[in-house]
Amino acid sequence: VREVEMELTLELPGSPPRSSRVRIGEDILENLPESLSSRWEGSRIFWIWDRAVHALWHPRLREMGWRPSSEDEWILFPASESNKRLSQLEELARRLVRAGADRRSVLVAVGGGVTGDVVGFLASVYMRGIPHCQVPTTLLAQVDSSIGGKTGVDLPEGKNLLGTFHQAHSIWMDIRFLETLPPEEFRQGMAEVIKTAMIGDPSLWEYLESHSEDVRSRRSESLLRVVSSCCRLKARVVEADERESGYRMVLNLGHTVGHALEKTTGYAFRHGDAVAVGMAAAARISLNRGELSMKNLQRLESLCRFWGLPTTLPGGSPPDEILAALSAAKKRFLGVNHFVLPRAMGEVTVRSDIALEEVRDVLRAMSSS
Ligand SMILES: NC(=O)c1ccc[n+]([C@@H]2O[C@H](COP(=O)([O-])OP(=O)(O)OC[C@H]3O[C@@H](n4cnc5c(N)ncnc54)[C@H](O)[C@@H]3O)[C@@H](O)[C@H]2O)c1
Ligand SMILES: [Zn+2]
Repeated sequence: VREVEMELTLELPGSPPRSSRVRIGEDILENLPESLSSRWEGSRIFWIWDRAVHALWHPRLREMGWRPSSEDEWILFPASESNKRLSQLEELARRLVRAGADRRSVLVAVGGGVTGDVVGFLASVYMRGIPHCQVPTTLLAQVDSSIGGKTGVDLPEGKNLLGTFHQAHSIWMDIRFLETLPPEEFRQGMAEVIKTAMIGDPSLWEYLESHSEDVRSRRSESLLRVVSSCCRLKARVVEADERESGYRMVLNLGHTVGHALEKTTGYAFRHGDAVAVGMAAAARISLNRGELSMKNLQRLESLCRFWGLPTTLPGGSPPDEILAALSAAKKRFLGVNHFVLPRAMGEVTVRSDIALEEVRDVLRAMSSS
C-alpha cells in the first residue's frame, strides 16, 4: 500500500466552524470501512453505490480485504444523468427508512458526480440533514464535483435546478478507481482539469503541457499530481466563497458559453466538450480585448486538441442560437452574464460587462458551419 499522498482540510466559516477532510492517494480505501466505523461509532453506515461501479469494483475491494461491518447497509443506485431526479431521491429515501436509517446514520456515496450530487442532496434533507462522505470514482468527481458541497438533481426544464449546499464530512479519493474509467469519461474530466489549471495554477498548467503522455497513460504519479492540485485549488476557492456570492464564480470558466451550447444541443454535446469550447470562446474574447496573448490562446487550443476536446463550434450549432440561449440565461441571472476571462495560463478575471456583439464575433470566428 502506498502511503497517502496528501490530506487537505477544507475549513469553512460558521458556528461552530465546519471542515471537510480530503484524502487523496493510491490504495487508500483498504482502511475506509474501519476508519468510518471508528469515527462514527454507534451510527449505522449506509453505502450508496453507483451500480456500475459496484459491479466493477466489488470483487476487487473484497480481495483487498474490505469487510464492511455487518451493521452496514449497501444500496445500489442506477447512476446516470437521466436518473438524477427527484423521484430517485424519494426512492432512495424510502429505502433508507425501510432499512432503519435514523438521524444518527451516515451516508457514503461511491460513484461519479451523479451519485455524489444525489447522495449529497439526500443527506442534506434526510430527517433534516445527516452527515455524508464521498468516495468519488470518476476523474470529474475527483477533481471537481465531490469537493465544495454543492448537491442537486435535474428537472425536465434544466439541470441542477433543485439542490442544496451540504459539505461532505470527508472525501476519499483513490486514483485506483480511474483504472476502469472509459477513455471517453476520462476525457470529459480532463476538460475540468484544464479549466482548473487555467483558473489559478500555472505550475499545473506547465505540468499538463510537459507530462501529457504520462497523464494520458494514467501513471499513478501523474494522476496524484493532477488530482491533488485540482482539489487544493478548488478547496481554496470554496473556503473563500462557499455559496458562490462572488469569487467562486471563477470555477465557471468556460461554463457561460458551455452551458448555452449544452442547452442548444439538447445536452447531446457533453459537458466537458462544451466547457472546452466555452474556454476557447472566453480566451478569444480576452484576446480581442488585448488581455490575452495569441500565444496563450494557442497553448490552450493545443492542449485541448491533445485531449480530443473541441475548440470550435460543432456543426449545426449556429452562433445565433447560442446567443439566444445566453440571453435567456442572462434573464435568469438577474440581468447579467458573468464571463470568466483568462489573462494568462493560471490567471483569470470575472467580467459582467461583455457585450453580446463581442461574443457574437468570437462565435462566428469559431463556427465550423
Ligand atoms: N456538485 C458539483 O459541484 C458538481 C460539479 C461538476 C459536475 N457536477 C455533476 O456531476 C455529474 C457528472 O459527473 P460524472 O461525469 O462523474 O458522471 P457520472 O456519475 O454519470 O459517471 C459517468 C459514468 O462513469 C461510470 N463510472 C463511474 N466511476 C467509474 C469507474 N471508476 N470505472 C468505470 N466507470 C465508472 C458511471 O457509471 C457513469 O456511467 C453531472 O450531473 C454534473 O451536474 C456536479
Ligand atoms: Zn463543469
